[in-house]
Amino acid sequence: MHDRTKTLFIETVGCQMNVLDSELIVGSLRRQGYELVHDATAADVILFNTCSVRAHAEEKIYSALGRLRRHMRENPDVVLGVLGCMAQKDQEEVRRRAPHVDMVVGTGQLARVPELVEEVKRTRAPQYALSLGRADGGKDEVTASFESFDPPRDASMRPTPFQAYVRIQIGCDKFCTYCVVPATRGPEQSRHPDHIVAECRQLASEGCKEVTLIGQTVNSYKFDHGERRSRLSDLIARIHDIAGIERIKFVTNFPKDMTDDLLDAVRELPKAVKYLHVPVQSGCDEVLKRMKRLYTVGSYREMLHRSRERVPGVAISSDFIVGFCGETEQAFQKSMGLVREAKFKNSFIFKYSPRPGTKADDFYADDVSEDVKKRRNNDLLAVQNENSLEDHRSRIGQTVEVLVEGPSRVGERQPTGGVRQLTGRTMTDHIVVFDGHDRLIGQSLTVHIREASPFTLYGDAETGTVEPNELNQRSATTVPLTRRVTLPLI
Ligand code: 5AD
Ligand code: SF4
Repeated sequence: MHDRTKTLFIETVGCQMNVLDSELIVGSLRRQGYELVHDATAADVILFNTCSVRAHAEEKIYSALGRLRRHMRENPDVVLGVLGCMAQKDQEEVRRRAPHVDMVVGTGQLARVPELVEEVKRTRAPQYALSLGRADGGKDEVTASFESFDPPRDASMRPTPFQAYVRIQIGCDKFCTYCVVPATRGPEQSRHPDHIVAECRQLASEGCKEVTLIGQTVNSYKFDHGERRSRLSDLIARIHDIAGIERIKFVTNFPKDMTDDLLDAVRELPKAVKYLHVPVQSGCDEVLKRMKRLYTVGSYREMLHRSRERVPGVAISSDFIVGFCGETEQAFQKSMGLVREAKFKNSFIFKYSPRPGTKADDFYADDVSEDVKKRRNNDLLAVQNENSLEDHRSRIGQTVEVLVEGPSRVGERQPTGGVRQLTGRTMTDHIVVFDGHDRLIGQSLTVHIREASPFTLYGDAETGTVEPNELNQRSATTVPLTRRVTLPLI
């Protein structure tokens, strides 16, 4: 009898860690014969890889689960799973609000997904796989219950075959008072550097050119081999020696752990991307104290100054939370002042969202109204956008090296296989769009910057010329097409 291919759908929300986890889950299930589909209702296994950082992300998942209620009733053989942070944090609530969910698998148990899918199919009984809560046992016991999920990689699920996330650390021990991550991802654990280097080698042999090392506080990475300790700087130096790897990025940094050895490595090693994401969260010391961020605005400023001095030209970006408990107008104005002065490449700004189980939710009132949060978010963004535009304008006329990632949003609507609008990033993580042939995707090339907006640089790729008839004149582009467009000769 001809066996129908088993199909799998996965929706991912949240951070880079989740994107990587989803890639690995899909890889594991593909090895069991599953094929990825892009329509949940066409899948034998439907998975949601979830995020708990803000309430909004959770509500989106509950809505999506609600929409599948009838489908599950009508298709009793389908397996529906909730994975990741929400699963770890709200195991019972997930099943209470969505009783048609068949499996609930926490961040530290993802290796068990293929086995649990089979178990649901065999027994139709709900399956749970969760790690211990932070207070549910001794430190070693809790730590051991969160297993790093590092199965073989599967290029098919990556956003591009030449870029990959590489996990170097799991969990977080900082316990910022607003944050749910130490609960959902468990204690901080660094992966053995030999395993990380081996994974990067494997990725390079498959054509991967850019690795992004990920960890919740990636620059706190440390692995002790008896007397000797491997730091992030040592790891970057080892990955730097791998032929084929062209770029090494790392996210997200904790301000207090931005040590000189790391900054020196970023400066000295040509493959290290000259970009640091170092969230400050607030420009007010009292707020930082209530957040338990372990640094002051003054020491953050010192870190910014030191980073820029040690790594000339480095681009730095940040995260902010507006409307945190007790954030007065005056306190907020301090964040405005910091954004104005700090010249971040960009900032991600979030409205405070109280998270049950966190210190802030237990001890402080969520006393800034939604309207005020919204206004502060917009105000902060407006200042950041002015700075981003100024930074981008100062780059007009420059020649930059771009790793081409693929079609831009405009390019996606243009026919494939010819010249269309492409997008890529510079060594300082700036986004550049330009017109070029699809064969350039995955290549590094030189682009002259000609125009700027707050979010994007617009440029012309260097070398060689293409006659206008090679261009797809029918397609609309945001960049006006000149009669002669320069293109690289590859
Ligand atoms: N509410 C709003 N934003 C939050 N973040 C983390 N926890 C919360 C919360 N409870 C933001 C921080 C962090 C980013 C990933 O998400 O700015 O850096
Ligand atoms: Fe959350 Fe703070 Fe850890 Fe970042 S450092 S994951 S904000 S607890």
